[in-house]
Amino acid sequence: MNFKQPLQECISSYASHFSKLHNKPEFDKFRLGIGKLLNEISVKNIKKNNQINVPRKVVEYLNKCSEINKFSGSLENSLLSISNKLDWYKIINGTNLDKKLVNGLFAAQLCGSRGLIKSDEIYLGLFLLAPNLLYPLHQHEALELYHVCAGNIEISHGRKKNPFKVNQGDFSLTPSNQVHSLRTGSEPCLFSYIWVGGKNKLPGKSWWWQENSDGFWSRISWERQTDSSWKISGSERLTEELIKEAGDY
Ligand SMILES: [Fe+2]
Repeated sequence: MNFKQPLQECISSYASHFSKLHNKPEFDKFRLGIGKLLNEISVKNIKKNNQINVPRKVVEYLNKCSEINKFSGSLENSLLSISNKLDWYKIINGTNLDKKLVNGLFAAQLCGSRGLIKSDEIYLGLFLLAPNLLYPLHQHEALELYHVCAGNIEISHGRKKNPFKVNQGDFSLTPSNQVHSLRTGSEPCLFSYIWVGGKNKLPGKSWWWQENSDGFWSRISWERQTDSSWKISGSERLTEELIKEAGDY
């Protein structure tokens, strides 16, 4: 399958969206990253994706997303049309984890460590979340942009602030290290994400927050392994300083 054309369409649509946001400096890093990708796509080695995996649940949710995606723009449409040609995987996997989360969080990369274009500077991909799901509080060094292709999602930045809703066609920005959680409603949600790194290469550690039985909070670190799966690599109690650094006030 030739991925160059659908990939180019997605990245060009993103580039044209960012050009309309030229007066918003908070999008500069994404604009630069996407511009670089667009220039390099013809000479980059696009992976020949002969073996793609689209789990049954992903097919079901993508069909639902196509149904609810009636009035979207060209960016949403180009992402939706490539969505069933990508290699989908479960974001987390493991025996002792909440089954609803394991079976309700899926991702596929256009660009990244396991994307059609390899990169450890910028990730561009799709997330698909099951209905009525809470993606719990987590943080990562990467600066993160979400863009909703179909459905809607509620995002919380920290434990105390009110959540905000991101609707189809809208964007959200999550600063580096900001702790955040996501919640879907009665429909699945398909959204694209872009990660840009700081001083370290992507993906870096992801920290998941949890409340302990003694009422204190800790964070558990997940690290990407060489086979691209995520494994727990440690945990630590959250100090006032770590909480402040995570923008949880
Ligand atoms: Fe995130």
